[in-house]
Order: sequence, then structure tokens, then C-alpha cells
Amino acid sequence: MKVSILGHGVVGKGVWDMLQNNPCFEVRNVLVKKGEKSADFMTESFEDIQNDDSELVVECMGGVDPAYEFASKCIEAGKSFISSNKALVAAHGIDLLNLSLKKDKGFLFSAACGGAIPILQNLHLARKSDSIVWAGGILNGTTNFILDSMDRRGIGFDEALAEAKALGYAEFDPTADISGMDTMRKIMLISMVAYDVLPNSDYHVEGIQSVSAYDFKVADTMGCTIRLVGRCGLSESGRLYSYVQPMLCKRSDFYAGVCSNINMAQYEGKNSGVMSFMGQGAGRYPTASAILRDMTSFYEGQKQMLKSGCLFGFANNSSKECEGSYYVRLDSSHVPAIEDKVGVKEVVSEKDGMKCVITEAVTVKDMHDLAAELRRKGAQVFFAQVKG
Ligand code: HSE
Repeated sequence: MKVSILGHGVVGKGVWDMLQNNPCFEVRNVLVKKGEKSADFMTESFEDIQNDDSELVVECMGGVDPAYEFASKCIEAGKSFISSNKALVAAHGIDLLNLSLKKDKGFLFSAACGGAIPILQNLHLARKSDSIVWAGGILNGTTNFILDSMDRRGIGFDEALAEAKALGYAEFDPTADISGMDTMRKIMLISMVAYDVLPNSDYHVEGIQSVSAYDFKVADTMGCTIRLVGRCGLSESGRLYSYVQPMLCKRSDFYAGVCSNINMAQYEGKNSGVMSFMGQGAGRYPTASAILRDMTSFYEGQKQMLKSGCLFGFANNSSKECEGSYYVRLDSSHVPAIEDKVGVKEVVSEKDGMKCVITEAVTVKDMHDLAAELRRKGAQVFFAQVKG
């Protein structure tokens, strides 16, 4: 099968390398950035790929623009499309699904969520015979590396972020990693595959920008550490929920054992119970291996991992499935607001005008809304749901 590749960076180069001795695929063209053409198989012109005889195009460029334009043009030109680009699929996955269905072409993107971890393909399989109760996990290597380094190595946030960048885990602009938006995009892809719903903008996302060394000290006194977790699922009434937030988990918990840049993706099937997949969520060959997995699935006949009815939908994070206690650190002067609106079970630490409290059970929506309100009033707040 003839294939062309958009991008020759970290992942694109990995795909190229892996295809060198693959008997099923023959590479026609590889799109590189202007001024970077150094071999015959490379081109700086997208039109060379749009007009070539490849049946399949693999996109490893990242970003929405021009990736969306290129994706649409490739499918319009009669090519199937495989992407590792979570920003593209989170923004335009439904458009690309509909276009590929209209043109009877393939559209697969399992490398866009969890790197080498086969979470999307397994959800696609699992939902054929089971109901997915919830899905998610630790889906961002950069933030897990930072949290784990602050905890176990005692280094500062900035130093840990610099290391994550040097090791190639972080995005070029790590804002989306730190803010939790990278995890949210992966949750959006999971939700599309598991529930046929791409959550609109009504999800709740809290990243790790507010975490401090003090939080790890307090967590340690409680026998806990901190992880960044994303989750989506269906409430009892069938409404979708989806959120990203830090989580305080016991050192004996499964999540605490997910160290360094490792990811852990999970889902709970109504009949299968909880399934967990742990491994490299990023990096050249892990991500390229997921692209090769999609290419092979396409070669063997799989065209889609989404269903034709996949739509935008609203998330609701107020159901009982979204309830839990929270660890909250904030200025002591703002604690009465927490006592009034949520209730405080326990004060776990007090130092330099800050208090760390454990709240009564509250929904994700109410906790995120309260933190936003307190921040508007000038409070410094860090919060993490206490893992049950
Ligand atoms: N920056 C991402 C991460 C890369 O740290 O997980 C893989 O999506």
C-alpha cells in the first residue's frame, strides 16, 4: 500500500524509520518544513502529496492549522487519513469523520491518545460488546513527570518542567500540558470513541499550575501523593461527565505507582470491570508504534474507530458520580467560604497564612466553580480530589 507522511519531526521520523523494512507499505512522499528537504523522498510542497498516488496519508504535524486543511484536502482527494494529532481530532474529529464517511475513506487516530498505549482501539473493541461505565486515567507524561519529581526527588516545579522539556515529553509550548488541556483533549477523544460524544466546552479542567512543594509535604503526612487525572463517563441518568483535575491518592494506590513520564489509561466495562493499560504515552517510537498499529488495522480492513452518529454534546459534572472530598490549600482568610459552601471535615495543616483542609463531599462542578470564584477574589488556591 502506498503511503505519504505529513511531518518529519519526532513522530514522523519515527514512522519513516519503522516503515523502512515493512513489506506492506511503500512511502511515496514525506512533507518537511521549508528549508529542511535533504533527501529525494522529502517534499516541501503539500500539493505533491495531495496529488500523488498514495492511498493513505499519515499526519504527524501537530496543531490545528494547517493540519485540518491538509486532512480535508487529502480525504477529498480520495485518500484515507491516520493522525497522531490530538488537537486536530479534538477540534475537527467530527468534520473529518463525516467527510471520510462521505468519501468512504478511513480515518483512524489511536496514536493521538496515550502514545503507545492501546486505549482507543481497545475502547473501540470493548464497546461493541459491553457498556463503558467510565474511562480516563493519567494521560499526560509531562505533568506526571513534574509531580513525581517534585514528590520523590524534592525538586521545584520549574526545574522539573525544564527536565521534562529537555527529555522531549512536553509540547513545544507546554501550556496545554500544565493547564490540563492536553489531558482534556485526550479525554475528548476517549469520549468520542466510548460514547459517540465530543464534549463541547462545558467540561471542567484544573491543571497543576498551582501545586507547590508544601502540598507534597502535607500530602506526605497523610501517606499520599498527587497525580493529574482525567475522566469521562456516564451518570446513572445517562448524562456524560468529563473533567481533568489533580487527585490526592494514597501511596499504596495504583495511581501512586505510575511514576516518571508513564501514563496509565483505564476504562470500566459494565461486565469486564476495570481494565488498566500502563506504558509510554509519548515519544518517537512509542507514538510511531501506535501509528503503525493503525496503519496495519487499516491495511487489514478497519476504516473507522468512530461511529457515524458521533456528535457534539454537553457534559454535566454535577451527578453523584462526580462527587468527592477535596484537599484544598488556600489563604486562611478565604476558608470561611469553603466552610459555608462546601463544609470542612478536617484542617490538615496550617502555615504562613495558608490552610490545608479536607472538604465534605462536593461535585466536580461545584468545587471548580468555587475555586474560580475564590481566585476572582484574589485567593491562592490549589485543590485535588481525594481518591476514594
Ligand atoms: N506532551 C504530551 C505529554 C505528549 O506529556 O503527555 C504526548 O501526548
